[in-house]
Amino acid sequence: MLLSFHSYKGGTGKTTLVGNLGVLLAMGGEKVCIVDTDVNGPGIHSLFDIKYNLTLIDFLQGKCRADDVVYKHNELELYIVPARACEEDISSLFNTPTEAKEKMSELINVLQRDLSMDHLLFDCSPGINRSSLLTMNLVDKATIISTVDVQDIRGTYILSSMADKLGTRANLLFNRTPRDKQQEIEAVIKDFSNKLGTDLLGSITFDDHVARAWSRKLVMEDDPECDYCLQLKSIAKKLI
Ligand SMILES: Nc1ncnc2c1ncn2[C@@H]1O[C@H](COP(=O)(O)OP(=O)(O)OP(=O)(O)O)[C@@H](O)[C@H]1O
Ligand SMILES: [Mg+2]
Repeated sequence: MLLSFHSYKGGTGKTTLVGNLGVLLAMGGEKVCIVDTDVNGPGIHSLFDIKYNLTLIDFLQGKCRADDVVYKHNELELYIVPARACEEDISSLFNTPTEAKEKMSELINVLQRDLSMDHLLFDCSPGINRSSLLTMNLVDKATIISTVDVQDIRGTYILSSMADKLGTRANLLFNRTPRDKQQEIEAVIKDFSNKLGTDLLGSITFDDHVARAWSRKLVMEDDPECDYCLQLKSIAKKLI
């Protein structure tokens, strides 16, 4: 399955979620590849602490083959396509949007057909930008991760209507929700997703364990029974 993760504002927890979801799926016996398409602020390579030479950008620029940018994470069937920080947007590396789409599709074909990946998870740039929309256009399901902050929620409307225009099924997930206001928040987000007509995946509460990890470790590897991981497991069941 091709899954992408987006947000309007930055820091809603996309990279953390994609990384831990990848570990969860791989621990369940699936072959998973995480693709970092957040070329303006890549983070997946830090979370997995991988050493790399070639990245997604080198492949997109035609400097290497797709399988040259795929790195394995420890003993799991979990693979990473890292990005290096770049001031350009993925689309601006190409003359036309069609060329960009074709090159990304070539990567997807190699990952699915030649490397037999069961799931591809795309970690996208925050905001409304061409890279994020390009990826949204290629996947089976796009998940928009928001906090309950009204700045985020308003932007989530926009992202969700863009998914609609592209004909991509969108899911809504709230992250970092305050634990003490859980009932109130559940009501607000249910109402919001009904108005939006977007599938609600659920919410994940603010978790100290994750916050204190500072992206230096993957909680799904470190403590798979922690609160964050238990909530993520139930989200993953709905998503896949
Ligand atoms: N449920 C949670 N509870 C507490 N902290 C969290 C939670 N989810 C993520 N975080 C923390 O929030 C910070 C931002 O998370 P992350 O980098 O995953 O966000 P992002 O959406 O990928 O950001 P960006 O848009 O900048 O790429 C990290 O320090 C992460 O550990
Ligand atoms: Mg990120």
